[in-house]
Amino acid sequence: MTEPAIPLVRVAMAPEEVLWPLLREVLYSGQIGEGATVAEFESRFADNFKLPRAFSFHSGTAALHCALVLAGVRHGDEVISTPMTAEPTNLAILHAGGRVVWADVDPCSGNMDPESIAARITPRTRAILVVHYGGLPVRLAEIQAIAARHGIPVIEDCAHALGARYNGQAIGTLAEFGMYSLQAIKHMTTVDGGMLTMRDSDLVTRTKTFRWFGMERGVDRSKVDITEVGYKYHMNNVTAAIGLAQLTIIDDLIGRHKANGRWFDTTLPAIAGIEVARFDPAADPSYWFYTLLSDDSAAVLARLAERGISASKLHRPNNQHSIFADAARELPGLDAFYRRMLHIPCGWWVGDLERERIADALRAG
Ligand SMILES: Cc1ncc(COP(=O)(O)O)c(C=O)c1O
Repeated sequence: MTEPAIPLVRVAMAPEEVLWPLLREVLYSGQIGEGATVAEFESRFADNFKLPRAFSFHSGTAALHCALVLAGVRHGDEVISTPMTAEPTNLAILHAGGRVVWADVDPCSGNMDPESIAARITPRTRAILVVHYGGLPVRLAEIQAIAARHGIPVIEDCAHALGARYNGQAIGTLAEFGMYSLQAIKHMTTVDGGMLTMRDSDLVTRTKTFRWFGMERGVDRSKVDITEVGYKYHMNNVTAAIGLAQLTIIDDLIGRHKANGRWFDTTLPAIAGIEVARFDPAADPSYWFYTLLSDDSAAVLARLAERGISASKLHRPNNQHSIFADAARELPGLDAFYRRMLHIPCGWWVGDLERERIADALRAG
């Protein structure tokens, strides 16, 4: 008998008895655009994840665009970033008019290498955009020290890392800005959506106007004055209602990602031919997926596929896209990481039996 497939990613949805009443109320309330439900969701999200403040967007990409502009990125400014991420991280830099400058990655984790970041700083560097790839926090203390020496703001792309911590503090709150994606297959979804947190309370009004045509909501439309370009980036009450329902289950889901990740951390290193991604000891990752390294990653992927375990490299290094050709440079750490890495399932749908099955499949090589 073939065993059921174990997917690499899955959509997590709150139970019907929680979700339907919240959705029904909003859908027939006469207020389906941005209103009180969005405000309530932002406030509960901030409380749940211990953020100083949270502003919702219709996507994580929109939230990143906002963070880059608020960080001061203007046409032609350089932003140091990583090629080892999903494309929206770096497209957002182009949306803000910035130029992408690649830092190399640590071949043991796929995360940005602090020394490479330091080497890329120039007088045109306006921001450093770090990605906690796969849910493993970057070496934030070192990166923050480099950024502080040069007075450059850091933006944390936490799309893969909701619920992770660093030095006991919520991921996304250690730098000037933190972005979370609520896209379909992330730890938490509102179908699509994003959240932005930031340290500086003086940026609150600009954040709100940025996401709504450059205008302040609640101000008489016949008197409002647009002073800076804004976008249609806000969240609506319907997706916010889904978010409120999702908050009732998210801690348990993230807890299961973490428990699986820790189990793999202790179980898999004993398997010949397999290494696990290494991370900063100050980090408490939230393991969106789990990253392995092998000299023959193609053979490991094939073996897992034979046993119904979905695994993959998932992303294409962003420097391989023509749109980033201007930023081309040697990235030996990235090349070494990408050749050896593969991602295996680690989320809430991986129970004790499934993770044993994954470990057995890896042992069989
Ligand atoms: C690392 C990373 N950054 C940014 C994004 C963009 O998030 P969203 O899809 O919510 O716009 C994603 C998700 O697709 C991502 O994986």
